Amino acid sequence: MYRTHTCGELRMRDAGKAVTLAGWVQRVRNFGGMLFLDIRDRYGITQLVFNPEHNAAASQLANELGREYVILAMGKVAERSNKNAQMPTGEIEIHVEHLEVLNASKTPPFTIEEETDGGDELRMNYRYLDLRRNNNQQNLLHRHQVARAVREYLDGQNFVDIETPHLIKSTPEGARDFVVPSRLNPGQFYALPQSPQTFKQLLMVAGYDRYYQIVRCFRDEDLRQDRQPEFTQIDCEMAFVRREDVLHMFEGMVKFVFKKVRGIELPDFPRMSYDDAIHDYGNDKPDLRFEMKFVHLKEGETNLVGERSFKPFDEAEMVAGICVNGCADYTRKHLDELTEFVKRPQLGATGLVYIRCLADGTFKSSVDKFYTAEDLKIIAAKFNAVPGDLLLILAGPAGRTGKALSELRLEMGNRLGLRRKEDYKPLWVLDFPLFEYDAEENRWNAMHHPFTSWRPEDEAFFESDPGKIKANAYDIVLNGVEIGGGSIRIHKRDRQEKMFTMLGLTKEEALQKFGFILNAFEFGAPPHGGIAFGFDRFCSMTIANQENIRDFIAFPKNNMGRDMMLDAPGTIDEKQKKELGLK
Ligand code: AMO
Repeated sequence: MYRTHTCGELRMRDAGKAVTLAGWVQRVRNFGGMLFLDIRDRYGITQLVFNPEHNAAASQLANELGREYVILAMGKVAERSNKNAQMPTGEIEIHVEHLEVLNASKTPPFTIEEETDGGDELRMNYRYLDLRRNNNQQNLLHRHQVARAVREYLDGQNFVDIETPHLIKSTPEGARDFVVPSRLNPGQFYALPQSPQTFKQLLMVAGYDRYYQIVRCFRDEDLRQDRQPEFTQIDCEMAFVRREDVLHMFEGMVKFVFKKVRGIELPDFPRMSYDDAIHDYGNDKPDLRFEMKFVHLKEGETNLVGERSFKPFDEAEMVAGICVNGCADYTRKHLDELTEFVKRPQLGATGLVYIRCLADGTFKSSVDKFYTAEDLKIIAAKFNAVPGDLLLILAGPAGRTGKALSELRLEMGNRLGLRRKEDYKPLWVLDFPLFEYDAEENRWNAMHHPFTSWRPEDEAFFESDPGKIKANAYDIVLNGVEIGGGSIRIHKRDRQEKMFTMLGLTKEEALQKFGFILNAFEFGAPPHGGIAFGFDRFCSMTIANQENIRDFIAFPKNNMGRDMMLDAPGTIDEKQKKELGLK
C-alpha cells in the first residue's frame, strides 16, 4: 500500500497509530542530527521526524533528499512537543521507521510555495509544477465545486446535459473562428464553435425543453485577462419561456452556487436598463460595490457649463463628472496622475477638470479663470457635493467621454478601497439595443447575436431608426464583470429572415450559412430563450473576486494565445499539409 492516510488528515486522535504517507518533499531541516521533513500532497503537509539514533538508514536517506522528491514514509503518529497552530496537522508528527524514494526530482525552477519566486513565463513553461502550488490547487478544487453545484441546481430543475459537436460551421458570436482543415474534403474547413448557440436552439425544436452543458468554446479574438481563446461556458436553453422565467431561473442558480460553495446568501438582484447603465456609469457592466454615479452637466436641454469661453466644455457633446468624497486635499501630483490616467491613448480624454470643495464652503478649481464662484457653486450643488469632496469632470464626444469617466470612476474606487473583495453586487442589465452600427463596414451588426428577438413595440423602427430597437437580451454582471448573457430567441422563419436581411445577408447567403436553422423553424419550433455563463469568470469571481481567469484554468494560454509548455501553435510537416490539401 502506498499510503494509509493523506498528508492533511492526521490529528491528535491518531497518536500511536502506525501510518504510511506518500507525497512530495516540501523541505528538510537538520537540527544537529535530528531531521525534520515536511511531506506534502493535495490535502496538506505533515511533519516527519528522523532520529539517527533510532533509525540510521532512514535518517541517512532523508538527509540526501532534495525538494520535490516523491517519497513514501512509514512510522508512528506522535504528539509534537513544539506545536504549530497554523497547520491543521500541527499538533502531531510522524516518527519515521522506514523511508523509500519513489522518484527523484531535479531542483524545481521556482519554489512550490504560495508566494513563489517564479515569474509568469517560467511558471507557464512548467505549468505542472505551478499547479502543485497550494493556491492553484485550491482554485481548481473551487472550480470543481462550482461545477458540481451548477449541475446539482440544474439537475434539480429538470435540465438535461447534452453534448454538441465541436467540428461545425461558423457560429456568429462576433469573434473570428478557429478553423480545422478537413482531410476527407480537401480545401474545406470546419469551424470550432464560438458557442453551441444554434445547437441548443435546435434541441429546443427537438423538444428537450431544458438543456445545459458545461462546454468548451473557441474564439479567435484579442486576449485580455478575462478572455481566453478557449474558455468554458455553462450553456443553457429553455423552451416556453419569457424573459422573466429565464431571469428567475438563473438568478436562482447564482444564489444557489454562492450559498452552496461560499455559504453566502445573495439578496435579490437589482435590474438596470442598458440606457441607464451607460448614462449613470458609462458602462454596460457597472461595478455596484460603490456609488459614485455620473453627474451630467451638459445633456439635452441642460447646460450648467455653457458660455464661459471655456472651449473644451463649449465644444463638448458631453460634460460629466464624479464626486469623490473626502479627496479635496488631493495634491497637484495626485491630480496630475489622474490627468495622465485619462489621457492614455486607450481612454483618449483631452484633459481633466477638477473642483475642490474646501472646508470654508469655497471652491478651488482648474477652471477658476473661466467660472465664477457662483458658477462653481451651482455645479457643486448638482453633484450634491459637501466640503471635502473632489469633483472630477471630463468633456468630449459622448461615447469616449463616458468610457474614460467610467475608467476614472473604477480607478477612484480602487484608490479609495471601495471595491472590496468580500462584497458581491450582482446585477441584471436589460433592454440592450438589438443592433450596433459598424461605421467602418457601413452596416448594422447584432449586438448580442443574430438569433436574439426584439421588443414587438419597436418593430416600426426597422424602417425608421434601427439603432432604437431594443433586444430581448440580458446580461448578468457581478462586481463589474460580465459573467453571463443571453436572450429570448427568434423562433419563426420570417422573423429570422428579416434579421439576416438587416445584417446585410442576401437570401442566398442566409440560406447557405443558416439554412438548417431557418428550416428547423418551419417544423414546430417552440418559443425559447436561454443564457450562457462564462464558467471561468464565474469561478474566479465567486472566490477571488478578480477578473483574471487564468488562475482558474488548468492549462491556459498566454496573451499571444500560446501554450508555453507545449510550444503550441506550431508548424506541421509538408506531408501533413499535403494530406490536408493545404499548400
Ligand atoms: P456571450 O458571447 O455573451 O453569449 O458569452 C457568454 C459569456 O461567456 C463569457 N465569455 C468569455 N469568457 C472567457 N473568455 C472569452 N474569450 C469569453 N467570451 C465570452 C462571458 C460571457 O458573458 N451564445 C450566447 C449566449 C446565449 O445567448 O445564450 C453567448 O455565447 O462571461
